[in-house]
Amino acid sequence: MKTEVIKIHDPIEQSAGIEKAAAIIGRGGLVVFPTETVYGLGGNARDPAAAGKIYAAKGRPSDNPLIVHIANPADAEEYAETNECYYKLADAFMPGPITIILPKKNTIPPEVTGGLDTVALRCPSHPTARALISAARLPIAAPSANISGRPSPTSAEHVIHDMDGRVDMIIDGGESEIGLESTIISLRGNEATLLRPGAVTYDALLCVCESVTLSGAALGEDCREGKPLSPGMKYRHYAPSSPLVLIDASSPLFVDFIRQRRKNEKCAVICSPEEASALGGEGVILTGGEGDLPNQARRLFTALREADKLCAEVIYARKPEPHGLGLALYNRLIRAASHTVIKL
Ligand code: TXA
Ligand code: MG
Repeated sequence: MKTEVIKIHDPIEQSAGIEKAAAIIGRGGLVVFPTETVYGLGGNARDPAAAGKIYAAKGRPSDNPLIVHIANPADAEEYAETNECYYKLADAFMPGPITIILPKKNTIPPEVTGGLDTVALRCPSHPTARALISAARLPIAAPSANISGRPSPTSAEHVIHDMDGRVDMIIDGGESEIGLESTIISLRGNEATLLRPGAVTYDALLCVCESVTLSGAALGEDCREGKPLSPGMKYRHYAPSSPLVLIDASSPLFVDFIRQRRKNEKCAVICSPEEASALGGEGVILTGGEGDLPNQARRLFTALREADKLCAEVIYARKPEPHGLGLALYNRLIRAASHTVIKL
């Protein structure tokens, strides 16, 4: 398949591009589009055949459900059984980096939800994503636009690397602002469970919901055995081809540890600019500055992809403190590291 790549920086000025992309979705094709979190691989969420194409393009098992993207929070009425808590969360965080799981209506085919009787709904804030969903006049099913098992894409370069030839169109909207996937929260009645931490933090959720249960998966526990609340949690995720090891240590201890290791092994290190200048030398990949969690989040998946290219024996990164946005970072890193942590 030939993939058309178009750049859109202003969806109003470039409405012709948006209309073209929307027409592809309308006829059952696939379009990769930017969102504020990561790029999404979109198709018509009402069409079982489009869902099949999404699973094939990603190489994803079809029991792992897709998020349905909507233009406005109230559109949820058409696809799900909403409740008071949904609207409280929607008022606080939509459009934005949150996904809410609700009992589904039969307007969404089971192929989209991996056979589950619930549906994950997300109303993104990225202007191009919103323009595309509105122009398509359809809900858009979209997982992250990476090949299954690779880091989620946060730039058109990542998307083209993974999806060229597998989709009809890629919309290049520059770098993703947040860089980590949305916070996922599941609602059973008004009971809320956090399944995947993201830029909408646990504390922010607590300001809106009376109580929020933290799932083991959200805390980064190993969920490969047993029946997870979210099917996606059981698959190996964001796995670089060299093993990643997290180091639980202060910055100076971390720097010393890397200096020692470098004597015996070809290692890559994902670290802050401060640590990089202390270390110097090869195999150093920059993430955000010390304590600059938004930049660390924005850089994480690019850093994992860069680390991969170095063909190191092992990649080291420091374990983030699992609080606030740090919990989202920790959740991605601990799974990329297959739960390997060295405490110094
Ligand atoms: O930020 C995001 O959420 C991005 C952008 C494109 O919107 N999307 C994304 O989708 O990260 P994906 O498919 O890579 O991750 C969605 C996760 C998967 O782990 C899936 O198992 C889970 O959400 N999920 C989807 N529907 C679910 C449901 N009904 N019940 C439980 N988990 C669900
Ligand atoms: Mg994904």
